[in-house]
Amino acid sequence: MKKLLNGIEVAYTDEGTGLPVVFIHGFPLARTAWARQIAEFRTSNRVIAVDLPGFGESGPPAGPMPMAGYADTIGHLLGHLGTGPVALAGHSMGGYIALAFANAHPEMLKGLALVSTRPGPDTPEGAQARRATAQKVGESGPGLVIDAMAPKMVSDPAMIPDVRTIMSSATRDGIIAALLGMADRPDCTDPLPKLKLPVWVVSGDHDALIPHAESERMAKLIPGATLSLIPGAGHLVALEKPVEFNSSLAEWLKTLDRGA
Ligand code: MLT
Repeated sequence: MKKLLNGIEVAYTDEGTGLPVVFIHGFPLARTAWARQIAEFRTSNRVIAVDLPGFGESGPPAGPMPMAGYADTIGHLLGHLGTGPVALAGHSMGGYIALAFANAHPEMLKGLALVSTRPGPDTPEGAQARRATAQKVGESGPGLVIDAMAPKMVSDPAMIPDVRTIMSSATRDGIIAALLGMADRPDCTDPLPKLKLPVWVVSGDHDALIPHAESERMAKLIPGATLSLIPGAGHLVALEKPVEFNSSLAEWLKTLDRGA
């Protein structure tokens, strides 16, 4: 399905009934990264998965996308769909967006799942490197980012072709907008102790991009957070270990239903 939101045609999946669970993909991915979660949870929940602007089947963004800008797009989509409060799951960059969403729209959340992500901003050097990459992508296209990122997403090299397939729909404009947005993203650490909702923090023990220690640190700052470590999984934990990931997510979602 597609909906024009703030001038951008946003593609999304919306299937099933029950407590809405909304999935936000990481960089430079697409909603197909959540295929195994969509297939599993549409039997018990309303499952919504979004292609961020410039990724998957969504139209291009007009310029750099701050994390709060993506969060607004998600907010508009949920308003259009009339979901009411949701369980929001964000992977990596999707987690940066989920934290921005939690700051802007806490009333729209029943729970927050932070998947292989971190609350802190880029270091000055990291931000500079992202801006330099954005410039190179402008000159030569998305290939260099896909070549660099795909092998780091999973611990099992046999899965790299699947990851490249998901990344193949990332556009030049989408990648540049996300890189510039991530380079400028604010520190979301301070609001963590004030989060007043159930939070699930999860990552793989073989994450080459955001080490599990970051998840541990983040979970300690969030009152009552549930922390899961998925053995043998890399950064794209939900794709690489879907059975283990889904079973932990299902347990956590049950706690939200009990609190309803
Ligand atoms: C992602 O998977 O979304 C990226 O690793 C996030 C980042 O580059 O910081």
